[in-house]
Amino acid sequence: MDVVRITGNKPLSGTVNVSGAKNAVLPMLAATLLTAESCVLRNVPQLSDVHFMLEILRHHGAQVEKLAPGTWRITAACVHGRTPYDLVRKMRASICLLGALVGRLRMVEIALPGGCVIGPRPIDLHLKGLTRLNCEVSHKNGYISVDATRARGNYIFMGGRHGSTVTGTTNLLMAAVLTPGITHIDCAACEPEVVDLCRMLLAMGAKIEGLGSPALIVTGVERLHGCDHTPLADRIEAGTYLLAGAITQGDITVQGASAEHLGAFLDKLDEAGVAIEALGTQTLRVHGGLSRCRPVDIITHPHPGFATDLQAQFSTLLTLIPGLSLITERIYPNRFMHVPELQRMGADIAIEGATAIVKGGVKLCGAPIMASDLRASAALILAGLVASGETWVRRIYHLDRGYECFDKRLAALGADITRMDDREIPGDLHEE
Ligand code: EPU
Repeated sequence: MDVVRITGNKPLSGTVNVSGAKNAVLPMLAATLLTAESCVLRNVPQLSDVHFMLEILRHHGAQVEKLAPGTWRITAACVHGRTPYDLVRKMRASICLLGALVGRLRMVEIALPGGCVIGPRPIDLHLKGLTRLNCEVSHKNGYISVDATRARGNYIFMGGRHGSTVTGTTNLLMAAVLTPGITHIDCAACEPEVVDLCRMLLAMGAKIEGLGSPALIVTGVERLHGCDHTPLADRIEAGTYLLAGAITQGDITVQGASAEHLGAFLDKLDEAGVAIEALGTQTLRVHGGLSRCRPVDIITHPHPGFATDLQAQFSTLLTLIPGLSLITERIYPNRFMHVPELQRMGADIAIEGATAIVKGGVKLCGAPIMASDLRASAALILAGLVASGETWVRRIYHLDRGYECFDKRLAALGADITRMDDREIPGDLHEE
């Protein structure tokens, strides 16, 4: 297992390019199953989640070809519709296959994914939506079976107790594009990744109105055709690099950072006093020090609110800003696994229900720490960049799920960061 060693306290500077968005690419790969024709996806990031999804597509009978680095052609001439637990349990996001398989095959059996470390991950809204489409949904032995042979368009309200659902919306979209009649999806997720999936589906011949709004109208078509699509850049990765610049008081230009997609996040950076400059519609620069920064309160919400996927990384910044900041999680109330590790580095954070109370202004010190999930890994590496001494982050495989070459890109910006096999680390840092 790999670990990352960081020697902190070095300001980062330079330019970094953001990859294609993981959370757009995963449902797009699933969407390639909606047609027997070839679909080409470009700007696909090299991530373990993406490779795993490609493996699942092969399992379903698709032909997967790499045309160039980051460019894949998927041809699903024949598809079969059972997704076993062994595949689903390795990557919870594989549930985004459900809608595509329903759309293409009308008879599907897929293992239920279960929860993950950031909390329970129910799919009740996905199933409610399919039922509203007149699908017969049954649940047996950990598997969901869907019979969509009599499916037809309908009105579906997709809101739940935490607001809209991203994958629930994409599943319903993929099921509805090939379902006869008109489907109204109300309280649809408005995340840019959902909008970009709609664009890909439109390019495949789907009929969807209301892109980017919570009211999507889908008119079912008989068949879809192939497409050539380039997914949008990863706004969470972009936000993480902007935070790396802010935290190290460096000067980083992030190419592929859309201010439009990062509204609430940039607003909070501005409120905190972090200097961000737009150098074009897709390029943002962060520079300057933290000396005049102020604490801020954050509440995560579905888009266009503050993204939960940037919450852990923003927490690291707030540990450095003197004063009291509150971070409230409205999407995943338990998504604070990074906090005990930040505490090991000297952060003063208390958790009260779904709120983290950060007493900022501490000097973080390097320590051996453990990554628990993707965004927590990024938050801990950011902490290591500014901590005194050495930080060792274990279980770094979580990072590889969602950040392409994160350590290498940080090193190119001047970070002292090295990845190594855990057998190379000093004895007292080994895992039990
Ligand atoms: N929810 C329900 N019922 C459902 C579906 C969701 O109650 O049927 C709840 C969830 O428990 C959660 C909230 O609704 O509290 C939002 O969940 P959502 O369905 O939107 O999340 P998701 O689609 O499973 C995607 C991203 C996550 C990101 C969330 C929220 C992908 C592959 N994953 O998950 O990304 O945190 O939306 O924006 O798109 C990550 O990249 O690190 C990550 C976890």
